[in-house]
Amino acid sequence: DAYNQAFRPQYHFTPQSNWMNDPNGMVYYNGEYHLFYQHNPHGSQFGNMSWGHAVSEDLVHWEELDVALQPDEHGMIFSGSVIADETNESGLFPTDEGGLVAFYTSAGDTQDQRIAYSTDEGRTWTKYEGNPVVPNPGIVDFRDPKVIWHEASSQFVMLLAAGNKIMFYGSKNLRDWDYLSEYGQDVGAHGGVWETPELFQLPVDGNTKNEKWVLQVDMNPGSIAGGSGGQYFLGEFNGKEFIRDEKDQGINWVDYGKDFYAAQLFNGAERPIWMAWMSNWEYASAIPTHPFRGAMSMPRTLSLQTDQSGEVQLVQQPVEEMKDLRMEPVYEMADKTISEPVQLSSFDRQTYEVVAEFKVGTAREFGFRVRQGTETGEQTVVGYDAENGYMFTDRQYSGVTDFHPSFSGVYRAPTKIKENGTVTMRIFVDRSSVELFANGGEEVLTNRIFPSLTSKDLQIYAVDGEVNVESLKIYPIESSWK
Ligand code: FRU
Repeated sequence: DAYNQAFRPQYHFTPQSNWMNDPNGMVYYNGEYHLFYQHNPHGSQFGNMSWGHAVSEDLVHWEELDVALQPDEHGMIFSGSVIADETNESGLFPTDEGGLVAFYTSAGDTQDQRIAYSTDEGRTWTKYEGNPVVPNPGIVDFRDPKVIWHEASSQFVMLLAAGNKIMFYGSKNLRDWDYLSEYGQDVGAHGGVWETPELFQLPVDGNTKNEKWVLQVDMNPGSIAGGSGGQYFLGEFNGKEFIRDEKDQGINWVDYGKDFYAAQLFNGAERPIWMAWMSNWEYASAIPTHPFRGAMSMPRTLSLQTDQSGEVQLVQQPVEEMKDLRMEPVYEMADKTISEPVQLSSFDRQTYEVVAEFKVGTAREFGFRVRQGTETGEQTVVGYDAENGYMFTDRQYSGVTDFHPSFSGVYRAPTKIKENGTVTMRIFVDRSSVELFANGGEEVLTNRIFPSLTSKDLQIYAVDGEVNVESLKIYPIESSWK
């Protein structure tokens, strides 16, 4: 079975073989979700960068198709986006029904922005003869075009990562682009080069009369967990400029784990849904998986919510559709105080979802030890440090860690106890990843792990005191590859 290796994710997208990094060209069109991705079709290291292609009707089951865009005399095909031009604004299509337009960076001697178009739902593409549509203005790192339709100013807007800032361009026809503004040189984190920007609008606390724009930017290196990661800014986009909210101060990290990069939303979808590359540039090329290298996160829905301290923050949850892979719960617990580790007898699972609510008591720390093996000595700890107020994932003893010196570690997300004295954890365990959504997705930690296939035990634990398990359910997750 092509999708059955020890470290092959069972419900996260991976290419059948070879290298993958960023999600690209994500678009919902004619009933299909398209996921293109940075791909080396000829090897399991970065190189020959092309756009791989997969489609899904339900966001859960993916089918890999032929490579969509291949390098040419202008260079490799770096990250970008796709817009459904359903009224043929571009004039690139033979009829008013239009088609798909892809925006990518050509990475040759310099980086510039180019387009290609497709009349057969993304299966085959024609590169535009008028390329580049945005020539290089003399900036070395000038890439990752994300194009959205901006309703209020009736134009398409392109975001580009330009070294240490984001540049905005506007267009009516997807071919001619005018410079609008730039943002970010003196705000946020700047430990590395900025890459793969995103811009989207969301209601605050579900109130559609109070919408905010979210500008998301990736950075490599210098992120919170080390290496590459994402940050976001909240504010207003007026069709020309992004203006950050005065109340939005400091740095907002997207994910406190090490493995969530280059997140991109589906253009054209009814809901805000994004996916990211589940890896880190620090060690991506050394990840011990064969014959593929690189995985995507689950698709996540996004919302903005005001937290207890009155601050608006980005909240992420796996899409509802992930529940389609849930099996009947194999373990349940309710209103039970624990102070000693509780070993789940004959648990024997590699892929599952834990849904738990804890009433914080005297225990200094509590949570779960997943993908445990008595014989292997392996375990990944996903817990809450009540003493210091953070959720964490400890992968120091998770399995194979020695492929790179910066892989092993403990990652932490500051997390407050809710007003009713509880914290919640929703944990998705797969063959080579652990994603923790804490307090309803207010804090997220995404991390790869490489445990033995035989490390399948699970333990609930508390340290130095008691914690009350208000509720706990564990659902096995079936493979999406069947
Ligand atoms: C982000 C990135 C992009 C670039 C692509 C190359 O991970 O570095 O900036 O377009 O990967 O594969």
